Amino acid sequence: MGIYRYPQPSASEITPKELWLTRRRFMTASAMVAGGLASPFAGSVAHASVLAALPAKPNPEFMSVEKVTDRVQATTYNNFYEFGMDKSDPERYAGQMKVSPWSVKVEGEVAKPGTFAIEDLLALEPMQERIYRLRCVEGWSMVIPWIGYPLSALLNKVEPTGNAKYVEFITDMQPDVMRGLTSSVIDWPYREGLRMDEAMHPLTLLTFGMYGEVLPNQNGAPVRIVVPWKYGFKSAKSIVSIRVTEEQPTSSWMQSAPREYGFYSNVNPDVPHPRWSQATERRIGEGGLFAPRRKTLMFNGYEEQVASMYSGMDLAKFY
Ligand code: MTE
Repeated sequence: MGIYRYPQPSASEITPKELWLTRRRFMTASAMVAGGLASPFAGSVAHASVLAALPAKPNPEFMSVEKVTDRVQATTYNNFYEFGMDKSDPERYAGQMKVSPWSVKVEGEVAKPGTFAIEDLLALEPMQERIYRLRCVEGWSMVIPWIGYPLSALLNKVEPTGNAKYVEFITDMQPDVMRGLTSSVIDWPYREGLRMDEAMHPLTLLTFGMYGEVLPNQNGAPVRIVVPWKYGFKSAKSIVSIRVTEEQPTSSWMQSAPREYGFYSNVNPDVPHPRWSQATERRIGEGGLFAPRRKTLMFNGYEEQVASMYSGMDLAKFY
C-alpha cells in the first residue's frame, strides 16, 4: 500500500463537549426517528462525543454475565480492512466515512424487494440491548453490549420465496475515504453470507448501536450484523445490500483464502486454522499479552442455541 495522507476532520468539525451534552439531551435517536428528522448517524464521526444515544431495552434472554469489554478498547482495536490492516486504522480513519444518508437494498429471492432508508430500519422494530461475546479468528475476543433487533424481522418483511436458501451481505465502498480499498488482499466490496436458518436465528442481530449509542464508524456504522457463534469476520460492517439467494454465496475471505476460511466459520476450538490453533483466546483488556488465555468454547459458548442447525454435518469439512 502506498503512502496516503488521510484528511483529518478540522477542529471546527468536532463538536465541543458542552454542545454534545445538550444535543444528547434533546436529540436521542428515537426522538429523531419519531420526529422524522435526519438520521441519528448524520454528522457522526469516530470521536465518541458526537454519537447520538440509541435507547434500547435490555433483553434478559441474551445478556452474557461476563464483564463487558471497556468501550475504549472495543472502539480502538478493530478490524475494518477498508480502512487499513492495523488494529488502530479503523479508529484513525473511519471518521470520514459518510454514514448519512444511508439505505440498504434488500433483493433477490424475496416477494417484496425494497430499499430501506436507515431511518426506516431504525424504526422497524423496538431496539434491544444484548451482551454478546465476539471471537475473532485471530484469537482474541471481546464482550460487547450491542443494540439492534433480530435480522429475521427485516427478512420476514420482504417475504423470502421458496427458493430462498442463503443471505448475502454486501458492504459499502467509499474509495475517497477507504484507503484500504487499494489493497488486493480482498476482492472488494467486503461480502459475507449465512445460510437461511442461520440468518433467521434469533441470535443473529441486525445491529445499529453499542454501549448505549449509535455505532461508531469504526465498528460498522450505521448498520452491521453480529453473528455471535461465528468468527468475527462473518459479522459484516456498514452493510448496503442484502441479497437473498438460492446458491451459496462466496464470501470475500473464502475467495481470497479458501483453504483457511470456509463458508460456515463457526467458532470451533477443535478445528484449527491451518496456521494456528483455535483452542484458546485472549480477552481484550485482560492484562495484556501475557495474561492467561481462556479456553475457546464450542460455537463461542452458544452451543445450546445453535448446535442443532449443524447436526449430522462434519464441522471439520464444513469449516
Ligand atoms: N466488515 C467489513 N466491512 N470489513 C471488515 O474488514 N472485519 C470483520 C468484521 N466485519 C470487517 C467487517 C472482522 S475480521 C471482525 S473480527 C469484526 O468485523 C470486528 O468487529 P469490531 O471491530 O466491531 O470488533
